[in-house]
Amino acid sequence: MLESLIIIDFGSQYTRLIARRIREANVYCEIIPYTVSWADVENLNPKGIILSGGPNSVYDDDAPMAPPWIYEKDIPILGICYGLQVLAYQLGGKVVPSNKKEYGDATIESYYQDNKILDGVEFPMHVWMSHGDQVLSIPPGFEPLAYTNNSPVAVMGSSNGIIGLQFHPEVVHTKQGSKIIKNFLYNICGFSGNWTSNNFVEDSIRRIQEQVGSGKVICALSGGVDSTVTAALIHRAIGDQLTCIFVNNGLLRKDEHNRILDNFGENMNLNLEYVDATDLFLNKLSGVIDPELKRKIIGEEFIRVFETKSRSMGHVEFLAQGTLYPDVIESQTPENKASAKIKTHHNVGGLPADMTFKLIEPLRYLFKDEVREAGIALGLPEDMVYRQPFPGPGLAIRIIGEITWDKLEILRSCDWIVIDEIKKANLYDELWQSFAVLTDTKSVGVMGDSRTYGYMVAIRAVTSEDAMTADWARIPYEVLATISNRIVNEVPEVNRVVYDITSKPPGTIEWE
Ligand code: XMP
Repeated sequence: MLESLIIIDFGSQYTRLIARRIREANVYCEIIPYTVSWADVENLNPKGIILSGGPNSVYDDDAPMAPPWIYEKDIPILGICYGLQVLAYQLGGKVVPSNKKEYGDATIESYYQDNKILDGVEFPMHVWMSHGDQVLSIPPGFEPLAYTNNSPVAVMGSSNGIIGLQFHPEVVHTKQGSKIIKNFLYNICGFSGNWTSNNFVEDSIRRIQEQVGSGKVICALSGGVDSTVTAALIHRAIGDQLTCIFVNNGLLRKDEHNRILDNFGENMNLNLEYVDATDLFLNKLSGVIDPELKRKIIGEEFIRVFETKSRSMGHVEFLAQGTLYPDVIESQTPENKASAKIKTHHNVGGLPADMTFKLIEPLRYLFKDEVREAGIALGLPEDMVYRQPFPGPGLAIRIIGEITWDKLEILRSCDWIVIDEIKKANLYDELWQSFAVLTDTKSVGVMGDSRTYGYMVAIRAVTSEDAMTADWARIPYEVLATISNRIVNEVPEVNRVVYDITSKPPGTIEWE
């Protein structure tokens, strides 16, 4: 039976790191807004609750608070940083602004260690702090368990499994943080720690069967890892009730549609419909420059194409999508989360409001590495599972400015060279993504004694664990030189190549 931990999000930049740490400890978890009701989460069978950090002070006018039901369910709770302050405040303690704010490394000592949360932890312990307020007096029924020079209550606990930590156990700088998180999960909540990709696959199959019944499902297949694993999972669950639709939106890489059709023909025995909607998409995108508008248009067109196609297939109730957790988080708007919207990832925020399908998103709570593990557990071939990610809006968000067929062809040629050389240099697997971007800048060059005036292409290659953060890859100069030489020689419209050396943050991986 599914058992899960829920993370109530108060908007900390570290909330998704908490999720990663929990999953790494083989416990399934979901991040939920602080406004959710018990009815919304009951089916997850929560056996533990974490209150995340957040930018607020509990005394702010609109400070987010934990929903009262969490204190009525006899489920262990761990409050982290702002989460600790919320616990103290809501349960009758006192929170005050610190004289000295603590940011970064701090050393904590224990009052005593004979308790489940600090079991096996060595003191003094280095931890990562980031707070302005602190707990002055703890609520009734709690004991202070550890302190710093500055915070008399760095850890507090109650006998009924409610724990507060002033520091962040989820960040790597808190060296024994994973130990503390595991103490909470196993010693206090009593999780069995059996959440693995195989369990995920089995559990998802059961959930999909329950949700779909005898209905029909269509699945948007792009050839990428996410939609491939989604399709394989749903196919395993409901067989021929699934039809996959592969839309060529004209924004794909060179020969991509042929490769995808071949790959699926060979490897997966499922119903597959191919639609060439290139003209439709390019017409709609004509003259559009704004990146968010591009994403919205592409998301909307996708759905329209599906609707038209599905009408020819009798009544189809469900649309399956390979939405991942980072897409969900980064598309959240300030109404349901305290942090700012970055981009509308097309498979989440770009869906039209009047869409007639019910959505199935079995990967909605997974990170990319977990999706790959699920793909392997489903028996998919490694070269399908370990492909570099390719965004739903395709090359549209790698062409700065207006999208035209000619520009697409230029970018396809450059992209081909990048991937070809990255593969030849055996770098493909270690890079999260590597690709070309066609900028809207033109510059002067000289070729064969003549002046040229051509496009500037940027090469982007990043390493990353889950696309939430990324670093630019230190590609050997020789490989960059070969890529640059080949592009300016083989693509006549391009006369300058630059390498993007921006990490995420502050940049994003895609340029738009
Ligand atoms: P950014 O540019 O936000 O990208 O740093 C993070 C990761 O997400 C991919 N990406 C998308 N994937 N639909 C997708 O399926 C989208 O709309 C989309 N936008 C960005 C991007 O390639 C990177 O891996």
